[in-house]
Amino acid sequence: MKRISLELGERSYPVLVGPGARHELASLLPRGSKKSAVVTQAGVGVEVDTGREQRVFMIGEGEEAKSLSTVEQLCRGFAEFRLTRADVVVGVGGGVVTDVAGFAAAVYHRGVAVVHVATTLLGQVDAAIGGKTGVNLPEGKNLVGAFWQPAGVICDTEVLSTLPPREYKSGLGEMAKYAFLGVADLAELPLEEAVARCVECKARFVSADPHELSDLAGGKGGRVLLNYGHTLAHALETVGHYDLRHGEAVAVGLIFAAHLARRLGRVGDERVGEHQAVVSSYGLASRLPAGVNVGELVDVMGRDKKATGGGLTFVLDGPRGLEVVRSVPVDDVMAALSELQ
Ligand SMILES: NC(=O)c1ccc[n+]([C@@H]2O[C@H](COP(=O)([O-])OP(=O)(O)OC[C@H]3O[C@@H](n4cnc5c(N)ncnc54)[C@H](O)[C@@H]3O)[C@@H](O)[C@H]2O)c1
Repeated sequence: MKRISLELGERSYPVLVGPGARHELASLLPRGSKKSAVVTQAGVGVEVDTGREQRVFMIGEGEEAKSLSTVEQLCRGFAEFRLTRADVVVGVGGGVVTDVAGFAAAVYHRGVAVVHVATTLLGQVDAAIGGKTGVNLPEGKNLVGAFWQPAGVICDTEVLSTLPPREYKSGLGEMAKYAFLGVADLAELPLEEAVARCVECKARFVSADPHELSDLAGGKGGRVLLNYGHTLAHALETVGHYDLRHGEAVAVGLIFAAHLARRLGRVGDERVGEHQAVVSSYGLASRLPAGVNVGELVDVMGRDKKATGGGLTFVLDGPRGLEVVRSVPVDDVMAALSELQ
C-alpha cells in the first residue's frame, strides 16, 4: 500500500492507495471522534467499518443528487443523529458522493471533519483529492461549494472491480489528463501505481495552490492547470443533452484543447498525435457527439469559471507546457470544434 501525503502545513493529510486500503479507514479518523456519519449510495455497495458508532445516510444517484436539497437532508440527518463538531463524516462513493458529503461536512456546524473512501476510478485519481466540494444549481454545475480539505482519503483499488465498465472508462478519461501534467508512461503502469502517480501529481498542484488563486494573482503553474480539457467537458455536461460521463467528456476536451493549441500555433501535429494516442489507448472517443450545437458550446464556454476577465479562456499546451490562455478568438474555437465533428 502507498501512503501519499498531501502537504498543507497543519492541514496535511494522507492518501492511502492500494488493494484493501479501506480496512485502514479507522486509523484516518480524528482521534476524539465518537460518531461517524457514512454518506453513500445504494449502488456503491462498499461496506466500511469506522470503529465508531456509525449511521449510514443514503443519497440519490447522478448529478441530480448533487443539490442543496440533498445537503439539507443530510445536515438534518446529522443533527438528528447528534453528530458533533468533534465527530466525522465519511463519504463512501464516487465524485457525486464525495462532492456532496464534503460540502455537507463543510457547512454542518460550520465544519466537521470528513474522510473520503473513493470507490470510482475517477474519484480516486481526482474528485476525492484536494478539497473541492459542492453541488449543482439549475443554472450550472458546481456553482455552490466550498474548499474543505478532508482529514484523509482512501483509494482502495480492490473496490474498482465492481465498477460498471463505462464508469471505469470514464475514470480513464480523467486519468488521461495526467499524461499531459507530467506523469510519464501512465498507460503502461499497473493500476495501483497509475492511481498513486495521479494522486501524487494532483497533491503537488493542490499543495502549491490549495484555493486555485495562483492564476488570478498572475502566477503560473497553479491548480487551475488541473482543469486541462475541462472547459469543453464542462460545457458538454452543462448543455446536458449529450449522453456523456464526466471522464468521457474530458477525453474529448483534451483532444479539442490540442486542436485549438495547434490552430493558435502553440503545438504541432506531433503533439496533437500524442493526445490522440493517449486517449485512444484508453479506448475513449475523441470526437464530439453527433449533432452537437457548436454555437451553444461556445456560449457556455464563455461563462466558464476560469474566464474571469471575459472572453474565452482555456488551459492550453504550448512550448512552455500547459498555460492559461485568455482572449482566445471565437473563430479559432469554432474551427477547432469543427475539426472534431
Ligand atoms: N471535487 C472535485 O475535485 C471533482 C473532480 C472531478 C469530478 N468531480 C465530480 O465527480 C462527479 C463524477 O464522479 P464519478 O465519475 O465518480 O461518478 P459517480 O459518483 O456518479 O459514480 C458513478 C456510478 O458508479 C457507482 N459506483 C461507485 N462506486 C462503485 C463501485 N465500487 N462499484 C459499483 N458501482 C459504484 C455510483 O453509485 C454511480 O452510480 C461529477 O459530479 C464531477 O463534477 C469532482
